[in-house]
Order: sequence, then C-alpha cells, then structure tokens
Amino acid sequence: MARTFSFIKPDGVQRGLIGEVLRRFEQKGLTLVAADLRQIDRATAEAHYAEHAGKGFFDAIVTGLTSGPIFTMVLEGPEDVAKIVRTMMGATNPAESAPGTIRGDFGTEMQYNIIHGSDSPESAAREIALFFPELAK
Ligand code: TYD
Ligand code: MG
Repeated sequence: MARTFSFIKPDGVQRGLIGEVLRRFEQKGLTLVAADLRQIDRATAEAHYAEHAGKGFFDAIVTGLTSGPIFTMVLEGPEDVAKIVRTMMGATNPAESAPGTIRGDFGTEMQYNIIHGSDSPESAAREIALFFPELAK
C-alpha cells in the first residue's frame, strides 16, 4: 500500500465539487486517510508550488491557491496510487483532459482546473509532510 496527496482547489470548492470528487475516489477503491477544509497562507502555497518558482504563472497559481479554502486529502491505495489519482484527474490543460476525468468533466480553464494531485511518490511524500506533518514518516 502507498499514499498520495491531493486537494480540491478553491475553484472546485466554490463550485461544490468536494462530494463529487470524493465519491469518485471512494468508488475507485481508494481509502481516505486524512482530509480537511483549510485556508492556506501565501508561504504555504509558495512552498507547495516551489518547483514552479520563477515561472510566468507562479504568482497567479499562488494567488489562486490562497483565494479561498482548499479541501486537502491523503489517499491510500496500491503502490501506484499517485498515478491512479493523476489519471483520474486528467491532463493539466482542460482542453486536453479527456471526458470522464475530473478536469475533463468540470473545467475549461487551466487556472481553474479543480484539483491538484502529487505527480510521483516523491512529491507525495514531500506534500504530505507539508500539509499533514503528523502523517509524515
Ligand atoms: P503543473 O504542476 O505543471 O500541473 P499539475 O497541476 O497537472 O501537476 O502546474 C501546476 C498548476 O499551475 C496547474 O494545475 C495549472 C497551473 N498552470 C498554469 O496556470 N499555466 C501553465 O502553463 C502550467 C503548466 C500550469
Ligand atoms: Mg504538478
């Protein structure tokens, strides 16, 4: 078993998609290990998106992520759980995310693409430590 990290972004929370997204993950067979609705500060958002620091869209994604509460989740499943969640999310650009995926079904704009998911086991470990330090090994 392995764990990954995900959150519903402020746009998804505002649109009332927490239940829909959680339903999909539970229906898939993933186990919710921890979750909460929280408002994060700018420093946490910058730390989360540190890999994108210096890029043209960095300020916009940090501002977007702090614009309202996010719904954070730690999900447990098989070894490739991070990949499973990424596949269910769909492509980053909603113009390319397939119907049936979360982004493909609910979004049209990159800056309002509903959900984040760790892109590897290493990212999952780093992000779980940032958002749920009590769960970090
Ligand atoms: P990224 O980590 O590349 O995508 P993902 O969320 O699929 O892991 O980028 C983080 C977020 O930044 C992405 O969800 C949407 C936003 N973003 C832009 O606004 N413009 C861009 O060109 C890219 C690549 C991302
Ligand atoms: Mg990413």
